[in-house]
Amino acid sequence: MATPRSLVRSLQSLRTPSYQSITHIRQSAFSSRSKIRSNSSLLCRSRAGVPLLRPFSTSPRCQHGHIHPPKPGEELYVTFIDKEGKEHKIAVSKGDNLLDIAQAHDLEMEGACGGSCACSTCHVIVTEEDYYEKMPEPEDDENDMLDLAFGLTETSRLGCQVVMTKELDGMKVKLPSMTRNLQASDFGSKS
Ligand code: FES
Repeated sequence: MATPRSLVRSLQSLRTPSYQSITHIRQSAFSSRSKIRSNSSLLCRSRAGVPLLRPFSTSPRCQHGHIHPPKPGEELYVTFIDKEGKEHKIAVSKGDNLLDIAQAHDLEMEGACGGSCACSTCHVIVTEEDYYEKMPEPEDDENDMLDLAFGLTETSRLGCQVVMTKELDGMKVKLPSMTRNLQASDFGSKS
């Protein structure tokens, strides 16, 4: 005849699943979940139930340096002075900004934030104060980013915020020797 203590133990073992059985239940649940996931990631089914390859879709590539070619007779000119002091005079259209112009002509202007006024890697220095005065005042966002720019001057602007207008025709801007997002090439000519 079973003693009261052994009776209690056998009742407990009936109510409580053992550690092995819990592990087994978890493992089988996990493996069936991952099977479902791996199948659904590769295949989707048509209405007729025939497995199809999942359709592949793409979104348009984010492009920098998109400019409008100037119409004959309507060209405006801007000159970039690169880090080596070389001048690049470029014919541009009204409405294009300096970041897009520089990138479209393979000049070294990073534009890390894509022109959203959230970095200072498009920093340019307007060489003549007259042209600087013809530009609209920088907004607060631009001023905040300019504070972070390397080699800030009285005539510094962010290239992505400077839009070419008739008044700026003939302007020269200098690219600073370094920007805040440092690149290996920034150190090339430094001793
Ligand atoms: S590209 Fe970042 S602020 Fe101009």
